Amino acid sequence: MKLFLFLYLSALMSLESFGNSHESDKQALLKFKSQVSEEKQVLLSSWNNSSPPCRWTGVTCGRKHKRVTGLDLGGFKMGGMISPFIGNLSFLISLNLTDNSLGGTIPQELGKLFRLEHLDISFNFLGGGIPPSLFNNSRLLEIDLYSNHLGQGFPSELGSLSKLVYLDLGQNNLKGKLPVSLGNLTSLRGLSFGENKLEGEIPDVIARLTQMEIFLFDTNHLSGVFPPVIYNLSSLQYLTMGGNYFSGNLRPDFGNLLPNLRDLSMGDNFLTGAIPSALANISTLQYLAMEINSLTGRIPPSFAKIPYLQELYFNENSLGNFSAGDVEFLIDLTNCTQLQSLDVSWNRLGGDLPASIVNLSMNLIVFDIENNSISGSIPNDIGNLIGLQEFWLSENLLEGPIPASFGKLSGLMALSVHTNRMSGEIPYSLGNITRLETLFLSNNNFARIIPPSLEDVGRLENLGELYVAHNKLSGNLPKTLGKCLSMEKLDLQGNSFDGVIPDISGLVGIKAADFSSNNLSGRIPEYLANFSLLEYLNLSFNNFEGNVPTEGKFKNATVVSLFGNQNLCGGVLELRLKPCFTQPPRNSRKQLVIGLSIGISLLLLLFIASVSVCWLKSRKKKNVNEATPSTLGVFHEMISYGDLRNATDGFSSSNLIGSGSFGTVFKAFLPAENKVVAVKVLNMQRRGAMRSFMAECESLKHIRHRNLVKLLTACLGTDFQGNEFKALIYEYMPNGSLDMWMHQEEFEEIFRPSRTLTLLERLNIAIEVASVLEYLHLSCHESIAHCDLKPSNVLLDDDLTAHVSDFGLARILLKYDEEGFINQLSSAGIRGSIGYAAPEYAMGGDISVHGDAYSFGILILEMFSGKRPTDEMFGGDFTLRSGIRSALPEQVLDVADELVLQDGLRIGFPVADCLTQVLQVGLRCSEESPANRLGMREVVKELISIKERFFRARRRARR
Ligand SMILES: *[C@@H]1O[C@H](CO)[C@@H](O)[C@H](O)[C@H]1NC(C)=O
Ligand SMILES: *[C@@H]1O[C@H](CO)[C@@H](O)[C@H](O)[C@H]1NC(C)=O
Ligand SMILES: *[C@@H]1O[C@H](CO)[C@@H](O)[C@H](O)[C@H]1NC(C)=O
Ligand SMILES: *[C@@H]1O[C@H](CO)[C@@H](O)[C@H](O)[C@H]1NC(C)=O
Repeated sequence: MKLFLFLYLSALMSLESFGNSHESDKQALLKFKSQVSEEKQVLLSSWNNSSPPCRWTGVTCGRKHKRVTGLDLGGFKMGGMISPFIGNLSFLISLNLTDNSLGGTIPQELGKLFRLEHLDISFNFLGGGIPPSLFNNSRLLEIDLYSNHLGQGFPSELGSLSKLVYLDLGQNNLKGKLPVSLGNLTSLRGLSFGENKLEGEIPDVIARLTQMEIFLFDTNHLSGVFPPVIYNLSSLQYLTMGGNYFSGNLRPDFGNLLPNLRDLSMGDNFLTGAIPSALANISTLQYLAMEINSLTGRIPPSFAKIPYLQELYFNENSLGNFSAGDVEFLIDLTNCTQLQSLDVSWNRLGGDLPASIVNLSMNLIVFDIENNSISGSIPNDIGNLIGLQEFWLSENLLEGPIPASFGKLSGLMALSVHTNRMSGEIPYSLGNITRLETLFLSNNNFARIIPPSLEDVGRLENLGELYVAHNKLSGNLPKTLGKCLSMEKLDLQGNSFDGVIPDISGLVGIKAADFSSNNLSGRIPEYLANFSLLEYLNLSFNNFEGNVPTEGKFKNATVVSLFGNQNLCGGVLELRLKPCFTQPPRNSRKQLVIGLSIGISLLLLLFIASVSVCWLKSRKKKNVNEATPSTLGVFHEMISYGDLRNATDGFSSSNLIGSGSFGTVFKAFLPAENKVVAVKVLNMQRRGAMRSFMAECESLKHIRHRNLVKLLTACLGTDFQGNEFKALIYEYMPNGSLDMWMHQEEFEEIFRPSRTLTLLERLNIAIEVASVLEYLHLSCHESIAHCDLKPSNVLLDDDLTAHVSDFGLARILLKYDEEGFINQLSSAGIRGSIGYAAPEYAMGGDISVHGDAYSFGILILEMFSGKRPTDEMFGGDFTLRSGIRSALPEQVLDVADELVLQDGLRIGFPVADCLTQVLQVGLRCSEESPANRLGMREVVKELISIKERFFRARRRARR
């Protein structure tokens, strides 16, 4: 009864105060309304003089005093500004303007709201700084300014908010260092300033924030070692620090110090050392991301102990040793029944893919082991993983077939096994996976036809990307290809398909289609001209015939590629096809070849005549080293002809690893040193000069750089017939030459690498080669020009680090055996160098470091386009360089090496930008005029910064 009376009275009181509601609140709110964008004022239509403010939308009032205590206009999408009159709502406790489009600045009058406890202005467009007056409001419990455009520094005044529990300044433009006054916020449970531009270290005073549960500071420019102070915050549940510059190792007892973590995210930093196995003691852990760091060692199997683990990201580190135990953790992970995502791609994992992966969690959605050296085969029962949506296994050493049980994975959207050694037929059952969007099967040995199975591809209505390039597929293309209406990218190149292109007139969404290097025939379908989204159509190297359309997409020779089809005619002029209905002049092709080879010989002669000396004269005269040969290198003695003969099985062809203009290279095992080496036997003609030759080798031996092939010693003597014999003994490079990797099809099977080089690997190699040239040009006491830089002189060691070989060799040979040198140059080996030698050399110009810059530029263009400068498609004014120059930047993907694109296209990071920037470096190095070419120091800097930008972009795209 008493209670009833009380309610009655208070109702009466509120009626009473109706008329005299506080005018200042009303005026302040009306001012607020007047500042929001007009088209949204309709949402505030209740804000008018005919009703009291306490009844207005979004307004809350105190029950007794009827003053405005809360204003909640979240999600109204209002534009305009925040009126400074809001500072007059002096009873305000909670202000929520989240998720609007408010611009301008945060009015400093907010500082007058001394009762304010909750402030949420997240998701707006507010600029300027955070007004220091805000930190007068000592009752504040919560400040959320996430996702605005707030700039300037982190205000140090905030140290006065000792009650503050939650502070979110994330996703703004805050710069500068973190203030030590943060240490005063001892009530904080949540602190976020991720996605800003803050720099410096995490201050030690953070140690005082012992209540902290959430600590987010990802994506800034913060640096230092992993902040030791964090180990004190044992209540932490969420720690997100990815995308900074943190370095150093993690403590082995990491997991014991932070036992309450649920989310731990440290990706994209510079962390080194091992993954702490004690992480597995964090039984609450659900999300663990350490991708894109420099972590080494094994992935500990102990993760299997974490019962609720859902996501695990270790991609892009240096984990594993290419050895059998590297993937053991996968066996134990079957205990993690909640696991949804597993990404260990881009590491150094070896060993056979365990069959037990089929027992991984039924919840598994993403499985990514791309770009490792994992062998074995995909287990037959892979169809058990019924939750799988993405299965990425490309760029490994996998063998065997695609198991038919994939057909059970009805939710699978992406299947990528490109660049492995897989074989067999593409199973019929893939046609069951109707959700499939991406199918990457290129660069394997899949054989026979697509037909019986791909008849089903017609059912794959969602298939957007089908890549089967570079396999051994044959037969007709399936007619039902035309039913994959979502198709955007189709790559069939490098197989043996024959017959005509089936009716694909329905694939109007197609952007890129590559039919090149097959045996396809018939006429080119006219309707392709009308595919409005088509950016790339490659029909080269087939047997297409007849008239080439001249309309639509066929007007543009940069979209359409038709090389190597003998019987095509017509088309637009730029395609340079023969006209239709006229007889081509007889023997025209032969004449061209003769003309060209005469041209090349002339060029060669000019080149030889101009090679005076590759060693640029030093300012001070060099002392000829009089040391005896026995001081060379790690070898205590020079090696005899007999030793080398034994070490190479009598120079047997089974040990032959290459031959070039200067000699023949054998692999040799030297039992005395227990070492595999490469022996380059020089084909020198002239006798004598033995001692000077050794001195020369000695001087070359003092030139050291980690990306130069190390010259170990030399052999100088006579063979068993008494002929003079000279050989240089180098470190052995197990991964052959860049040339073999770039042009695998030209080499015998035993020399062929197991896969292709990725974009990042190519970028690394380019940086390494450039840094050697920088060293030779600028850091030696004499400036040295290499003079014969080309892919076959770039060798790769077991982790694909580049080592430049044959530097200075031109000099030795010139000096001591000019005749032999010229003989060697004119032998078959020189063909490579023709494309790489700077144009001024052919005109009698002096040898200079600029000549190396030119060769380097061409090397880059080759590495990223996959085309040799001497490819037969080039001739006249159309060169590798001119082709690439005219394609940049819009058509960069057309000139880029297909094999680089496969990985990139799916992730969606800006491959095109990266390629454009790299190719531009190549162009600037290979300028016609020597003086205009980039210097090597600049090149190194530029390439490193391209690589860094690329890494950042990759990370963002992967989120
Ligand atoms: C503000 O409103 C949104 C909903 O519109 C809510 O999610 C958020 O928690 C509120 N903020 C505060 C500080 O109460
Ligand atoms: C932080 O606290 C210390 C004392 O604990 C005090 O002297 C200092 O003024 C405070 N800093 C701020 C910015 O309030
Ligand atoms: C996985 O689970 C099995 C059975 O529950 C258990 O015997 C084994 O020790 C677990 N493995 C790990 C690494 O925790
Ligand atoms: C594919 O689907 C058909 C029926 O649509 C079914 O009979 C067959 O078993 C499925 N194949 C696999 C491998 O799941």
